[in-house]
Order: sequence, then C-alpha cells, then structure tokens
Amino acid sequence: MILSPQLTDGEQTPRYWYFSTARGSVPALKAELKQRLPQMRPSYSSGGFLTYKQDGGTVLPSSFRKLIFAGACVEAIGKLVGGSPKGFWEMAAPTVQRELKQRQRFCLHVWSPDSGGRGEPALTPEARRLFYEITAEVPAALAERLEPTPEAREGEFCLDVIVTADGTWWLGRHRADSLHRRCPGGLFPLTPPPDAASRAWLKFEEGLWWSGFPIAVGSRCADIGAAPGGGSQALLSRGAEVIGVDPAEIAPSVLRSPNFRHLRGKISALRRSEFLKTRWIIADMNVAPSYTLDALEEIVLRPKMAVRGLLFTMKLFSLAMAADIPAHIRRIKSWGFNQVRVRQLTFNHQEVMAAALKKPFRR
Ligand SMILES: C[S@@+](CC[C@H](N)C(=O)[O-])C[C@H]1O[C@@H](n2cnc3c(N)ncnc32)[C@H](O)[C@@H]1O
Repeated sequence: MILSPQLTDGEQTPRYWYFSTARGSVPALKAELKQRLPQMRPSYSSGGFLTYKQDGGTVLPSSFRKLIFAGACVEAIGKLVGGSPKGFWEMAAPTVQRELKQRQRFCLHVWSPDSGGRGEPALTPEARRLFYEITAEVPAALAERLEPTPEAREGEFCLDVIVTADGTWWLGRHRADSLHRRCPGGLFPLTPPPDAASRAWLKFEEGLWWSGFPIAVGSRCADIGAAPGGGSQALLSRGAEVIGVDPAEIAPSVLRSPNFRHLRGKISALRRSEFLKTRWIIADMNVAPSYTLDALEEIVLRPKMAVRGLLFTMKLFSLAMAADIPAHIRRIKSWGFNQVRVRQLTFNHQEVMAAALKKPFRR
C-alpha cells in the first residue's frame, strides 16, 4: 500500500527529510537540527529515525555535512507500508528518471536505523537481503544505470529505502557528497583485523578515512591514551612511526612493532621534547573534553612544536555536554588549526571525533 507519496522534484514545498542517529544521541540531534535548520519542524520519529518537515527556505547540502549527530540525511520521496520491490520501483522510478537526465548512474541504499541492539553498528542481514531483492526487480529501462553494489561513488545520486522496525519502507534520495553519504545509512563498513588490540581500532580507522589525513610511511605520530593500542595499530598499518602515551599496558601485538614506542605515564608527566618531531596526534583519553583539550593545547602551542593535525575523541559523559562542542571547536581553531570538523562516527559510542588540520602547513 502506498501512503502519502509526497513526490518531490527538489523544488516543491513542503519537503520532508529523514535523519538517522545512534539511539542514545536522539536528543543531541534534535537540538542540533533546531539550532542549525530552524526551518525544519519535527514530524514522526521512532528510535534512531527522525522525520522532519521543511516549511520553506533553502537547505544547503553543506548544512547536512556539518551535522555532528546525524548518521544519514535523506530527502523524502514517500513511504510504503507492506513494501515490495515492485511497489518501491513504481514510487521511485519517476524520481530516478528525472535525475538520470543529468547523470549516468545511480546507487541503491537499503538500511535500517539503529534499533539499540548489541554489537557494532552495521547493515542488518534483512537490509542486505532486501538490497538484492529490490535490485533483482529493477525496471528494464533503469537496469543498466543501477550500480551493482551499495557503496556509492563520490557525488553519485542515491535512492534510499529505510526499513523501520514496524516494517514500513521510507523512500528517499540523497547525493553521495561525503565519505559517510557514500555508505548506506551513513554506516561506515569496517571489520577489525583478528589481532586488533581494542575496538578503538574501529573508530580510529574510520576517523583516519573520514579526516583524509595523509598519514603515510614514516609519518611521525603520537597517540595519547594509547592503551591497549587499537588506534596506534591503525596508524602503524599505514607505515607511521608512533609514540604511544599511556600509564596502562600496551598489547604485545602493538609493542612488537619496531615503529612503536611506549611512553608509560600520564601525558601531564612527560617531557614535551619527546614530541618535537611529532606531526600528527591522535588522542583517546577517558576523561572530560576540557582535560583532553588542555593536554593538546599544552603540546601544540609550545615553541618549536609543529603539529599538523589532530584526531581525537571528546567523551560525552552526559548528552548535555554536546552543547559545549561549538566552544571546543572555537578553542581548537584558536590554536591555528583552520579546518576543524566534529562528527559522531559510526563507531563512536558516547563520544564524538574531532579532526583538526593546519592547511597549508608550515613548520
Ligand atoms: C578508551 S582507552 C584508550 C583506547 C586506545 N585509544 C586504543 O586505541 O586502544 C582510554 C585510555 O586513556 C588513558 N588515559 C587516561 N588519562 C590519561 C592521561 N592523563 N594520560 C595518558 N593516558 C590517559 C587510560 O589509561 C586508558 O588506557
């Protein structure tokens, strides 16, 4: 059954938008949308899935890229109750045909919002199965233009099918204009290596892809709050030389690397001369963001220090701490990092990741 098809051509109002977030971050995303996109009114929501109505005004794609707590942002096409691949294509085909006047190919993203289950965030088996079922029914006129896999290329047009717990299919569309928007549901797909020292490997591997930092063979890095060593492993696998700072034990698999050196102790107790050659710092201490920022500031503002980029977690012990993020960003910029981004990555739990870069970089 097709309900409220709300077909849009990108110009009509009202327009509807779908957002996803980690279930625990719903209040933070709502607050962010209220502040950044005041032309949007909250409509239906369930768990980590939120729908909004746009009453007017313009929404720039850059507004979505700046959202910290949104996993995915999708413009609505309509919804199907008791969805079927055939019903999906009936509803989606006009939108696709319009888009394909300007572009060659399109991609299909089938996903479910966070249901609060255990385990790492990932596409559900049902979403994977539906991807193939829907692909198999693609109308002949569109078949050659549909990408065979769900990972979109940069800038590609994507159709979304969001399957919620009650079985409804929410149809939408978005442009794959960032790393996460190229992945169904904004869920970055990663499987840790068998020797991963900790689950922190996931968030730093994702963070390094997201930041685009050019960490390469011989890059000099420091990892503050390194134990047991997942983040350091993500750096070491790129050929970096890593100083790992932590009072706690580092995993033997990390200590074995000739490119890793453990400085045992709290960051406050170490000589700053240890970091003179450091160009990249990652940090992941289980402390309040203000402590992490104090520690980083103390290093990067020292004379003779030439740090080019920072990638670090800011722990949100309560969601109210999300309100302080804009002030943190201003503080990081005041150290000379002119590009600062913050996002709750797929593998960040009660925390966000910050990436700060000096560009151009002069020693
Ligand atoms: C979440 S764990 C880090 C996980 C690690 N990044 C990984 O990749 O496996 C937090 C770590 O911060 C460390 N830590 C807390 N305060 C610290 C400080 N002042 N200086 C250095 N490390 C600290 C703790 O000892 C702990 O090992």
